[in-house]
Amino acid sequence: MSNIVLRHPKGSSAEIMLYGATIVSWKSPSERLFVSATAVRDGSKPVRGGIPVVFPCFGPPAHPEHAKLPQHGFARSSDWSWDNIIKEEGDYVSITLTLDPTPSIAAVYKRQFHLRFVVTLGEDDLSTELHVKNTSASTEYPPDFLEFQALFHNYVLAPANEVLVTPLQNLSYFDKTESTEEGKSSPKIEKRAGVDVRKFTDSVYENAPGSYEVTWPGGGVAIKTTNLKDVVVWNPAETGSKMGDMEKGGWEKFVCVEPGHVRGYERVAPGITWVGKQVISVVHNARRHQN
Ligand code: BG6
Repeated sequence: MSNIVLRHPKGSSAEIMLYGATIVSWKSPSERLFVSATAVRDGSKPVRGGIPVVFPCFGPPAHPEHAKLPQHGFARSSDWSWDNIIKEEGDYVSITLTLDPTPSIAAVYKRQFHLRFVVTLGEDDLSTELHVKNTSASTEYPPDFLEFQALFHNYVLAPANEVLVTPLQNLSYFDKTESTEEGKSSPKIEKRAGVDVRKFTDSVYENAPGSYEVTWPGGGVAIKTTNLKDVVVWNPAETGSKMGDMEKGGWEKFVCVEPGHVRGYERVAPGITWVGKQVISVVHNARRHQN
């Protein structure tokens, strides 16, 4: 599988696999992402770790147009294209990957689309942008909307027993540890000032603030998003031992904080492009939030 390595003059780096457009390393200056030592990296299944791209469905498909798709869609398990250009602009280096319908995608998904995934590396930050264009040629009314969900599945390298995610207090969320079908369990209200993952956690927060801090004693990252109204906090705890590609005890080394649009669907008319973006940056002098 081909990987692209971005190197910043100030020492940071990022490694992106064309398979799944998955970012499998971000160093600034030390590693910031968790990838399981037993992750499959030969392009036969999505990588367990890093930053996989989730599109066009989150979790098991619920939309009728997604019925034949695997969990979290096909973007994380497709071979993306790259134009061989590494752009250097100001203090940033970036690349753009693209994905268009292939015969294997078209066999399970009938919609026309063009995806662009832009990865930009700074000295202390990494940004990912997903551009989703509805390339349907239809001019009919009502418009031939492309309906999709999208999410960045960040595996943040962190001591899971000490990590806190803020600010999620008072938000409504679906607890998928109780029911995998979000619609079938009632939403809860988050009471904690800082959300921990000391036990199995799979929470989908809706209409979240869009900016988050993931902190632990002595470290942390901040995530700022555009156009991504929801956020998922996931850590499988011991249930991770059932995953074939999760290293032993791997769940103690990360928290997934995943900004996305996953409650309901984005709707994009023909010819229109939607852009969802996140910027993850290293927090120096991380503050400690108490529950
Ligand atoms: C999270 C979901 O985003 O991804 C969880 O909320 C899911 O329900 C997890 O278990 C991992 O998914 P997968 O398909 O990579 O094992």
